[in-house]
Amino acid sequence: MHIPSSVWSVVLVSLPWAAALLDTALGASSSSHHSHHRKCRCQPSQSCWPDDETWSAFNETVGGRLIATHPAAYECHDPHYDEAACSQIQKGYYHDWWRPSQPGAYQHANWEVQDDDGCLGFNRTAPCHQGNVPVYTVNATSVRDIRRAVRFASKHHIRLAVRNTGHDFLGRSTAASSLSIWVFYNKRIDFDDAFVPEGAEDDDVAGTGAIILGAGVTWAEAYKAADDHNVMVVGGTDATVGTSGGYCQGGGHSSLSPHFGLCVDNVLQYKVVTADGALKVANAFQNQDLFWALRGGGGGTFGVVVEATYKTHPEFDSILLATIVVVLGDEKDLSELTRRWFALLNDLSEGGWSGVTRIQSRSISMIYEVPNQDKEFARTALAPFVDYVQALNNTAIIILTHTFPSLWTAFEATVGSPLVRYIKTSGTNVRLSSRLIPQEHLQTLERSNELADAVMDANRLHRGHQPSVEVQLVAGRAVTKGTSEETSVHPAWRKALVNVIFVGKWNNDVSYEARQRIARRMTSSTDILRELLPESGAYFNEADPDEPDWQQAFFGSNYPRLKMIKDAVDPMGLFVCHKCVGSEDWTEDLMCPRTH
Ligand SMILES: Cc1cc2nc3c(=O)[nH]c(=O)nc-3n(C[C@H](O)[C@H](O)[C@H](O)COP(=O)(O)OP(=O)(O)OC[C@H]3O[C@@H](n4cnc5c(N)ncnc54)[C@H](O)[C@@H]3O)c2cc1C
Ligand SMILES: *[C@@H]1O[C@H](CO)[C@@H](O)[C@H](O)[C@H]1NC(C)=O
Ligand SMILES: *[C@@H]1O[C@H](CO)[C@@H](O)[C@H](O)[C@H]1NC(C)=O
Ligand SMILES: *[C@@H]1O[C@H](CO)[C@@H](O)[C@H](O)[C@H]1NC(C)=O
Ligand SMILES: *[C@@H]1O[C@H](CO)[C@@H](O)[C@H](O)[C@H]1NC(C)=O
Repeated sequence: MHIPSSVWSVVLVSLPWAAALLDTALGASSSSHHSHHRKCRCQPSQSCWPDDETWSAFNETVGGRLIATHPAAYECHDPHYDEAACSQIQKGYYHDWWRPSQPGAYQHANWEVQDDDGCLGFNRTAPCHQGNVPVYTVNATSVRDIRRAVRFASKHHIRLAVRNTGHDFLGRSTAASSLSIWVFYNKRIDFDDAFVPEGAEDDDVAGTGAIILGAGVTWAEAYKAADDHNVMVVGGTDATVGTSGGYCQGGGHSSLSPHFGLCVDNVLQYKVVTADGALKVANAFQNQDLFWALRGGGGGTFGVVVEATYKTHPEFDSILLATIVVVLGDEKDLSELTRRWFALLNDLSEGGWSGVTRIQSRSISMIYEVPNQDKEFARTALAPFVDYVQALNNTAIIILTHTFPSLWTAFEATVGSPLVRYIKTSGTNVRLSSRLIPQEHLQTLERSNELADAVMDANRLHRGHQPSVEVQLVAGRAVTKGTSEETSVHPAWRKALVNVIFVGKWNNDVSYEARQRIARRMTSSTDILRELLPESGAYFNEADPDEPDWQQAFFGSNYPRLKMIKDAVDPMGLFVCHKCVGSEDWTEDLMCPRTH
């Protein structure tokens, strides 16, 4: 049937409801042809929510591993107060090794709260609401558990949350009214010194040294095992971040990245349960689109990864660690010190260094490392900055350098040390805003000064809320070699040298309105960098939850292909998370499909 287009335009103008019909008809032949099958997710208050019997039957299919989930501090509040349980909770509450083992606790406590509803802290008589904590959790320890949970959520239209350590800075591993698939106890670690991806013809590929990681292995666990096996693996700087969940799927930067690329550049294979409940193998030889999307397109979006295989690398002969702490007598020196440090970053990169700098109102502290070098090398490399600081009056500088025989011993002595385990580092309210800084902005003094000033200007706008800036030298060199043919991380990563992060914190007693003000201010103060670096992006895993134009900021030119793969692999939108690929198809609370 041929209909002249002018007839349609008459209909469109005169009958609004016909326009909606037309949308649906046109949609049927376009990429959004699934949208009319998508439904709102069921909430516990609704009749479509499964009854107790149904949950009970489901519990049996997952080996009794279903947990009715409560906020971390539940038993410290009336009417659920339990003295013994509460005292255990208080011991672990602020520690990053306790939180990952609690199904209702997240690294940053603010993600346990929904608007004003939550259950934070230990005031026994203060209200305790479910907030943003899942209703049920499957403590999944097998592929079978995961597949059954995926099918159950899909069948009953229940919001799904995929959770590993709960470290996410954008709250993507939890959701209100959800069923959580918790993969943390999948602790398989194996090595294969001549790994060949499944589906490759044996003579196509030379075997590669590889580490095979269950979905719940943390970096401390993987580093220890790798050291025992005399190899290294590209991973995070924190002991308790997960190896195969959101960290790597979102990019994964490492102190080893300047030498071996981002985590995504080191992935050889994923095994993943997709929305249809099938277990798929994704590598260079099969499910290549899915493999590409999982290398940078973000966690919680394309399926549940049950196993990841990463390249291993021969160990360094030694690793030199340099720790510098500068305590300022006069705050006005901070801007010039920041300029001097930024001016050094490009040379440090060329010298093989990587590391992190923290700038606070009265101090700058850094921890940097370089392989196979001696103290004299460190002295010369750091001299331009150190000499300047030493000439300042009123300013203290402490410099410690130490050579370790291996990366593991260096890790064990610093972030992995038992001492650090007992520092309270989590369970507080945190949000970030960040920007990737292109290397070309750090290659001339004029531009690096401009950048340092912009960072300090943005920092100043945070003042009053415990401002702090983190400058991570984790890109450049090997990271520049990766391409968008192989990985889906923002192409800005390939031009970047450092990642700059602004950290915002607040106490539990800060009102909802004040929290919103802090959030707005964090987003707006970072505009200085967005405007200075319009071609760059923000790192998906360490980003502002309110990042404007997020598809562009997180994925750049890779977004359209990511969205196509998302629609193909998860047509019903079972996996959704905040500012994740395809989330624009859902309402703000991610509970209902958007009607156009
Ligand atoms: C203290 C600390 C240090 C950090 N250091 C670094 C660093 O050095 N380098 C760096 O790049 N980042 C770092 N990060 C950021 C880190 O990459 C993110 O917090 C990341 O989201 C953590 O992933 P996870 O799986 O451990 O956490 P989770 O919060 O459990 O999950 C994060 C996201 O991944 C999804 N997900 C989890 N498991 C799976 C799975 N098996 N399959 C599919 N999706 C899954 C979740 O749904 C969620 O969307 C750090 C974070 C913290 C808190
Ligand atoms: C699931 O079953 C186990 C074992 O029978 C039980 O301990 C647990 O409480 C059940 N979970 C729920 C949510 O009922
Ligand atoms: C504890 O919570 C109650 C109820 O919200 C409140 O009235 C009281 O001031 C709180 N106590 C403290 C010490 O914050
Ligand atoms: C989850 O399962 C693991 C492995 O069986 C077990 O050690 C852990 O105690 C369980 N956690 C909870 C909260 O049920
Ligand atoms: C530090 O103090 C000395 C002595 O008072 C002075 O000569 C010098 O100029 C000062 N240095 C700086 C950088 O202000």
